[in-house]
Amino acid sequence: MSYLIGLDVGTSAVKALLLTSEGSVVGSHTAEYPFRSPQPGWTEQDPEDMWKASAEAVRGVLSKFSVNPEAVAGVGLSGQMHSSVFLDERSEVIRPAILWNDTRTTPQCRLIDKTVDPDVLREEACNPALEGFTLPKVLWLKENEPENFAKLRCLVLPKDYVRFRLTGNLAMEVSDAAGMLMMNLRKQAWSKPILDAFDLPADILPPIIGSSEVAGTITAEAAEATGLKPGTPVVGGGADNACGAVGSGVVVAGRGMVSLGTSGVILAHLAEPRLITEGTVHMFNSCVPGEFYMMGVTLSAGLSLSWLRSRIGMEEVPYDVMTKAAETVPPGSRGLVFLPYLTGERTPHGDGNARGSFVGLSAIHDQGDLVRAVLEGVAYAFCDSVRLLRSAGWNGTSLRALGGGAKSPLWKKIIASATGLMLEEINIDEGPGLGAAILAGVGTGIYADVREASDSIIKVKGAVEPDPEWNKVYSEMYQVYRTLYPALKPSFDRLVSMA
Ligand code: XUL
Repeated sequence: MSYLIGLDVGTSAVKALLLTSEGSVVGSHTAEYPFRSPQPGWTEQDPEDMWKASAEAVRGVLSKFSVNPEAVAGVGLSGQMHSSVFLDERSEVIRPAILWNDTRTTPQCRLIDKTVDPDVLREEACNPALEGFTLPKVLWLKENEPENFAKLRCLVLPKDYVRFRLTGNLAMEVSDAAGMLMMNLRKQAWSKPILDAFDLPADILPPIIGSSEVAGTITAEAAEATGLKPGTPVVGGGADNACGAVGSGVVVAGRGMVSLGTSGVILAHLAEPRLITEGTVHMFNSCVPGEFYMMGVTLSAGLSLSWLRSRIGMEEVPYDVMTKAAETVPPGSRGLVFLPYLTGERTPHGDGNARGSFVGLSAIHDQGDLVRAVLEGVAYAFCDSVRLLRSAGWNGTSLRALGGGAKSPLWKKIIASATGLMLEEINIDEGPGLGAAILAGVGTGIYADVREASDSIIKVKGAVEPDPEWNKVYSEMYQVYRTLYPALKPSFDRLVSMA
């Protein structure tokens, strides 16, 4: 028996997951790192921290489970999408990475809208210009830090940077390259019309590689840092949402997932690309070769709950105890609605200025109401994404649930009841790390292909059905929720300018 390692380079931590060649998860080890917010709306991280935490996570998982490095057949990576790692001519980091949930780039998004014909943007990149994507970050650098832009020789994303530190090879894996707004998704090649529109030299972008393609092997230096054997193969891997789909069996058209991490994602797998002409639905390349997925992203899902926990004096309280307080509150939180726009919002508003709000607060509301309103607010945001995916042609009836938030039976029941979809529970909820390990298994010939491996390892073991009574309440509350953003939008803009 051999082992595969899936390394998920997340927003607050790296998790190294150990999978056997037979497809069982042995366990994982997590190493945390900070992220900074130097100004409101900005989020940054030091790529060196990502690397150090990756090395520590691999070391930790090998020693925790007494694994002989000789027995590790391959490593796969997954990571936070869109976050820019800027490298100079010596492949050294120029400045902190600008993260996926950073919303400083609204002016650059408007510049993209003005400069690139919307039809060309949709045809090439298949996505609208949104603050979190990577192209606006490059344009921000060009405009605001010309001295740093002048040094830029290579642009990579977090997991591709960690792969570079592991193997010495610079490359960009396709499912993540898709989230940069600089790639032609159908051709899987950097988009000349988009790069030319901004005079960006194509050679700042590394070669695009496949998700399960072997992209190099562990160098002697990386072996020293991680405890892995020099020469161990490392595959391309995938964007965290693409790997989350592989790690939950969402690898067949029609299947969908809901991921409840820092961000919240509703994702539907597509066999064919689809021209999505309106709104903020994203479409990216899947880790199943030649296939795609579309998704809606709510920026602050788990983040809303962790924010509330730290702000109402419950830092030390475990999440399950915290959500217990919400169980006794009736659906609708006694007339309280929460808009989860703490870091702006992607789907459906594409608005970096949107802000979180409790609407309907009265003197009767207590901690339990606040907690429940946050869980419900994220569910209403998911209703927005489901509505848009439906209008883009998705007709699924269930979603596989994964991520930290999916451990809460209450949150799953709220989401099922608000969206009217069945939430399927899977046998292994390891998400992106598992997907990355599966890709390593495919690349090293242990598994035949991504779909077969994913389907044989991940099984549905139960489901949470929508509650008809709750559904009635949520349908009404959602109507109220939908009126709030347009009504508050002018106030959000003013408040942001005053912050
Ligand atoms: C997706 C997105 C987030 C990050 C989280 O477009 O920005 O889901 O990938 O890591």
